[in-house]
Amino acid sequence: MEGLCYGGDYNPEQWPEEVWREDVALMREARVNLVTVGVFAWSRLEPREGVYTFDWLDRVLDLLAENGIRVNLATPTASPPPWFSLAHPDALTVTADGVRLTHGSRDTYCVSAPAYQEAAKRIAAALADRYGEHPALAMWHVHNEYGTWCHCDHVAAAFRIWLTARYGTLDALNEAWTTAFWSQYYSDWAQIMPPRKTQYLPNPAQTLDFRRFLSDEMLARYRDQRDILRPTGVPITTNFVFGAWVPVDHWRWSAEVDLVAIDDYPSGNAAEESAFAADLARSWARERPWILMEQAAGVQYTGRRMRAKDPGEMARHTMQHIARGARGAMFFQWRASRGGAEQWHHGMVPHAGPASRTFHEISALGRTLAELPPHTPAIDTEIAILWDYDSWWALQAPGLPSTEIDYLDSVRQTHRALWRNGTVPDFTHPSHDISRYRTIFAPNLYVITDAGAANLTAFVAQGGTLIVSYLTGITDEHTRVRLGGHPGALRDLLGLTIDEFRPLDAPLTLSTGQTATRWSESLHLTGAQAVATYPDGTPAITRHAHGAGTAWYVSTHLTDDGYADLLTMIGLPAPADPPGVERIVHRDGTTYTINHTTTTLGPGLSPGGFIVHPGPVKAETGQEW
Ligand code: GAL
Repeated sequence: MEGLCYGGDYNPEQWPEEVWREDVALMREARVNLVTVGVFAWSRLEPREGVYTFDWLDRVLDLLAENGIRVNLATPTASPPPWFSLAHPDALTVTADGVRLTHGSRDTYCVSAPAYQEAAKRIAAALADRYGEHPALAMWHVHNEYGTWCHCDHVAAAFRIWLTARYGTLDALNEAWTTAFWSQYYSDWAQIMPPRKTQYLPNPAQTLDFRRFLSDEMLARYRDQRDILRPTGVPITTNFVFGAWVPVDHWRWSAEVDLVAIDDYPSGNAAEESAFAADLARSWARERPWILMEQAAGVQYTGRRMRAKDPGEMARHTMQHIARGARGAMFFQWRASRGGAEQWHHGMVPHAGPASRTFHEISALGRTLAELPPHTPAIDTEIAILWDYDSWWALQAPGLPSTEIDYLDSVRQTHRALWRNGTVPDFTHPSHDISRYRTIFAPNLYVITDAGAANLTAFVAQGGTLIVSYLTGITDEHTRVRLGGHPGALRDLLGLTIDEFRPLDAPLTLSTGQTATRWSESLHLTGAQAVATYPDGTPAITRHAHGAGTAWYVSTHLTDDGYADLLTMIGLPAPADPPGVERIVHRDGTTYTINHTTTTLGPGLSPGGFIVHPGPVKAETGQEW
């Protein structure tokens, strides 16, 4: 597709056909050029096993094609029909405490159940056969938000196969899982279970491996469908959902999709969270295209209640994604549903219909995106944050030294501080080539492999600046503590050793005036210099020259103000723009300036507005969109 994609999930199966005609007229008015069709339409496409009713979808796709609207056609496998669940009760999800769920919502399937795998492949093949050459087809949207957990016997069998491939022998598995503790030694593969509900604390290595397994198992199911759709020659993706509960390693998955697609529903500070989500997506895509596949029109869901977006807010947050490299912005969903579980989820056409502020803003945003100058949105940055699923997942285990340890919160804080500083960071991983960066932050990188530690060490030796925060480099990939003083993997690099963790009951003030919260440690310096000390005079923040570079260590959780001071300490230049202004410069020179404040900040930069200056390729300057 030329230009940016704009549109949303379109669910015509929920509406009579006369509404479809109004839909396409309104889509044209709003400059919608791509809609995601059929995500939850399985029971309307296959009302009985092997009986397909494609006639309505034929008419929908023809109507869209006639109106120049392209289709991101979904396989409906995230919501099997009731007939399927009744015919194959063994394919229904089993929770960790052994409850087999019943159909009646969505995502009630087990990806390891053979009947589900076969049914999913059949419906994907039927769609590929029927629509593979349809002129409206622009993209395949496999499934929806992979992330469903199951603990049934099919999963147990698949988990054992995965473990056999990973460890080869039971001895290796017993060693990796430290099964000597609490008499968990396995003498037969058949004894190994998914982490079902158990008496007290589960084994952390088993729990972490189960998440890794679920990620790989779901990825294999994605691949099943992708390989069926591949002969159609149309790009294939699946929409990534983000959250602590999601057992998906997006680094691994991103390599398997033709373009990265994310769903983004900020629940707190939307400006900061949108920038975070967009930087993750761009980093996962690694120079390949990515798209914002879903966001909420008109309202923000804050966890407790919905909040109407302020005038211009929807456009502003969308522009953050475009500015950070997205090839389009889509919504869930086109038309708000009358009934059903998500009847109160907003739509691009809300319940009030097109005569509404939301639709008016949706149309204005569509025009804006259609008129943006074409450009290739590559962003070069020298700063990165390490993002690691093993550490995130391992730090969700019970039995850690403090319940206040929160990996995502720490990573978000690092990103937030950089965002406020006017910096656009990438995310990266210790297993990646990190040599192009000059500064890398490692917040709470609890799990690290020997190779990952060597990569970080070489990065510093070659002149990089690494900022390591507490609970980094503590365990190996099996969550076994690296012995001899923390952080075992990075002691030499940091020039220190920690002999005790000292989680805090109350905040402390460091010698630098920064506020330390949640966590502290007893450090012994073996080469590092103290830059900030605790009230008792022991080191809190340190710096260590290693080779041509510098490794910093922050042994506590700073407040946001303290983190801003840390950026100054490490030598990051002060922000060039006033607070609340986001400026993103692309490799081709195109510059996006977004004003998140309520005041006018210079010519053309109205409150909540944005300006796009085309890069040097196009000569005009200063045009406001
Ligand atoms: C997404 C999902 C959509 C819709 C939306 C709003 O996570 O993919 O189908 O449910 O949330 O809740």
